[in-house]
Amino acid sequence: MIDTARLQEKCRTAMDFAAGQLTALVENHPDYFPMYTQNGKWKHGGEAWTNWCEGFLGGQLWMLHRHTGDAYFREKAEHYSRHLEERKWDRNVHDLGFLFWSTWRRWYELTGDPVLNETVIQAGKTMGLRFKEKGEYLRSFVADESLFIDIMMNVGIIFYAALQTDDADLLSIANRHCLTTRRYLVRGDGSTSHEGLFNLETGEFIRQSTHQGWRDDSSWARGLAWSLYGFGTAYSFTGDARYLQTAELNAQFYIEQTQANGVPPNDWAEANPKNPYESSAAAIAASGLINLSRITGDPTRARLYHDYALQIVDTLTGPEFLANETPGWEGVLKQGMYHERKGLGVNESVMWGDYFFLEAVSKVLGYE
Ligand code: GLY
Repeated sequence: MIDTARLQEKCRTAMDFAAGQLTALVENHPDYFPMYTQNGKWKHGGEAWTNWCEGFLGGQLWMLHRHTGDAYFREKAEHYSRHLEERKWDRNVHDLGFLFWSTWRRWYELTGDPVLNETVIQAGKTMGLRFKEKGEYLRSFVADESLFIDIMMNVGIIFYAALQTDDADLLSIANRHCLTTRRYLVRGDGSTSHEGLFNLETGEFIRQSTHQGWRDDSSWARGLAWSLYGFGTAYSFTGDARYLQTAELNAQFYIEQTQANGVPPNDWAEANPKNPYESSAAAIAASGLINLSRITGDPTRARLYHDYALQIVDTLTGPEFLANETPGWEGVLKQGMYHERKGLGVNESVMWGDYFFLEAVSKVLGYE
């Protein structure tokens, strides 16, 4: 049983540490949007693969502003959010939820300024344009025939835009995407496939596949965490019990498969992985499990999800993962993984890992 007062103290330490790391990042590399570290350093010329991480910097700055009350972080958060504004029209990525929910949505929540809300809504409408009627899914950035599990974290902004504007067609797009993902990418045991491939002529599902996982039939841990969190969000927007059931199935798989410290490997099927952990998946799962504990409606499972999330946060705020005792390391959370096959960001800090870690920590501290 985790001692909550002690954990909250560790969370405050983590937030204060993050405030120092983020200040150093924006002062040393102004207007630079990092994705993953190399040997603990943010600035390098490593490949990006795709541009999906630019919101996580502003998002962390918004959370640090709330924690510290410091005007410095607000000014930086606004600056790094403004940088993204034109991306509300970006049709090249499937990540506009990541970009705008972490930044402009947080900004809007703080101020209530409807002009800010318009940008969030436009990002949701643009995301909706990725929908393939044949197959009924939002296409991934890779190809028309490709559906990614990651998109479950970005469909929330479509639900939001649809509900804000009372747009039944947009709502239907978001719902049909979730149901297609549930049918073809979530397996009966709660594990998930990274990608589904479809026949563009007929819309027929062809097969499961992966880019960042171990095998096509295995479960990439971060993908499963995206699913757990994303289906929980879809349930919060709609009240559709199928989404809650799916998120809980993902949670069950995560908890059953992961060792007691709560941090999974990059893929549960990889035997004796060289790098034993994928800390960003743990951070996403912790934040998603806290959400799930609030919406499940079953007190026993609510307690299980909540306690398990606290276990993850307890592990991640220790020196094996938090970089506060690693001199010269520029990220917040160590032992994350971006793309093992491509050799990108392996055993490093990753921007989304730091973002969802701060989000989970913020929930433990009662900010969210
Ligand atoms: N959405 C890309 C990733 O999780 O790496």
